[in-house]
Amino acid sequence: MKFLERRFPFIYLRKGHCLYSEMFTGVRFVIDTFTNYFKFKVTAITQATISRRYTWLYLGGAQRAACMEAPFAFCSPYFREKRDAKMLSEQTIATIKSTVPVLEVHGTTITKRFYQMMLEAHPELLNIFNHANQKQGRQQGALANAVYAAAQYIDRLEEILPVVRQISHKHRSLGIQPEHYPIVGKYLLAAIKDVLGEAATDEIIAAWTEAYGVIANVFIDVEAEMYKEAEQQQGGWSDFKSFVVQKKVKESDQITSFYLVPQDGQVLPAFEPGQYISLQAHIPGEPNTHIRQYSLSDAPGQPHYRISVKREDAMASRPAGKVSVYLHERVQEGDVLQVSAPAGDFILDRADRRPVVLISGGVGLTPMVSMLASLAASAPDRPITFVHAAANGDNHALRDEVEKRVGAHAQATAWWCYSRPTEQDRLAQAFHKEGRLDLAWLQSVIPERDAQYYFCGPEGFMQSVYGLLKEWNIPASDIHYEFFGPASAWEAEAQ
Ligand SMILES: Cc1cc2nc3c(=O)[nH]c(=O)nc-3n(C[C@H](O)[C@H](O)[C@H](O)COP(=O)(O)OP(=O)(O)OC[C@H]3O[C@@H](n4cnc5c(N)ncnc54)[C@H](O)[C@@H]3O)c2cc1C
Ligand code: HEM
Repeated sequence: MKFLERRFPFIYLRKGHCLYSEMFTGVRFVIDTFTNYFKFKVTAITQATISRRYTWLYLGGAQRAACMEAPFAFCSPYFREKRDAKMLSEQTIATIKSTVPVLEVHGTTITKRFYQMMLEAHPELLNIFNHANQKQGRQQGALANAVYAAAQYIDRLEEILPVVRQISHKHRSLGIQPEHYPIVGKYLLAAIKDVLGEAATDEIIAAWTEAYGVIANVFIDVEAEMYKEAEQQQGGWSDFKSFVVQKKVKESDQITSFYLVPQDGQVLPAFEPGQYISLQAHIPGEPNTHIRQYSLSDAPGQPHYRISVKREDAMASRPAGKVSVYLHERVQEGDVLQVSAPAGDFILDRADRRPVVLISGGVGLTPMVSMLASLAASAPDRPITFVHAAANGDNHALRDEVEKRVGAHAQATAWWCYSRPTEQDRLAQAFHKEGRLDLAWLQSVIPERDAQYYFCGPEGFMQSVYGLLKEWNIPASDIHYEFFGPASAWEAEAQ
């Protein structure tokens, strides 16, 4: 049975064919209106049913192919990819590619309409989508633009798999499920129709419906693997799990760390330095849950996960941040928080032995501290340059910890750049550079240009560091970054 599940994680049933429901008691299923297939996850089928009807299906290549002719289109993701690729005609592909530029022109209008209609019809999704991103229009662009970008690669989607994986990490950590995809597809298509009016001919809508189905299936498959991985590792789980706040430590005026341990006492799964968790906040008085990501700021292998959160206070016309202020003001030691398993592909390349440069701005130092801690323990010979930009010493979190780790490593240095140092900072000579990072200064503190560069920080900081590294002709393959919001928010301008 396990063998069969591994080999054939899904069953696809063509529309029009029927299944006896008692055979599939307890099976979760999705009616995938975009591909005209019903999709069943093979997890809860009883062994008796399997042996009565399907044992022959896992006997080998020829018989697997033969089963495609059977009343049930029962196939592995491999077969399904082939089938999906075949489903799109040359004409459909041409229609998709020629309409992408048109949709991009109407980008914001379509996506605004899409979210408005979808969230009105499915208010439960307000528990998943970030309301602040919605209000500021950040995520709106990200999702639809990614669909358009994928559509341009519709006949060679394997080329954009790294991008799909990056998004899927976020989706997995948020708990996005296959049944959410048809909802997004339905309202994206409805919004396209709504905004383009008569220009959205039946042919165009039909082509986009098909294309979305193909794209969505790629995401669903990648995410299915990720859920499985998260669940099957030691101490793993696939959704949100209860963690107790063991310790709450103030790190600076604005940043506080939370040490989280699993409430059930299970071991903690390993993670890669640079990864984040999602925290699902149930804030008293709020009608919806709010999910936010927080990078793990300690080394892997500890008995806790540590997150370090910046308090987003209200400023002028901007309201206070919901989750960060809740964590700072209301969450106390002993409280329980809902946390998803570590995710994300912004990770330290531990196999590369070249020097590492870690550059952070503000609270963007959290993944860098985890990387530093991991390198300090595992790579005593690898040169490390840790550069951190903060407003001043009052806002500089985790300084002692970084200095201790750097001091204990023969090849590591740490450099502080303050944009608005206080008098006390000046008296204590607590920083190495005043103002903003610039290339001349970076070149003076980085011993070797040939290195791996990792950076993270606020939007303007991301643009500026990216620009400096490009100016220094650092190859794209050596530049890695994380942004604490939808990446597209700063990338478009920087590139
Ligand atoms: C991969 C990843 C890792 C992260 N790691 C960390 C980390 O280690 N530490 C950390 O502190 N954060 C981290 N973040 C950011 C974190 O997820 C949250 O975005 C952050 O804590 C703010 O959430 P919030 O609920 O407090 O604010 P939100 O309520 O989400 O508000 C965010 C901002 O939008 C503004 N805003 C809200 N509504 C409006 C409106 N109507 N008009 C204008 N402005 C508005 C708020 O003033 C606030 O400044 C990470 C994010 C990602 C994606
Ligand atoms: C093929 C379809 C989809 C594509 C191409 C897509 C693309 C994206 C992209 C590009 C991001 C931003 C990633 C980042 O942070 O950099 C994102 C985030 C997100 N996606 Fe998707 N997505 C798809 C389907 C879905 C579905 C079905 C759901 C659930 C209903 C969903 C919910 C979210 C949420 C909640 C976020 C986090 C950002 C926020 O809360 O504002 N997505 N997606």
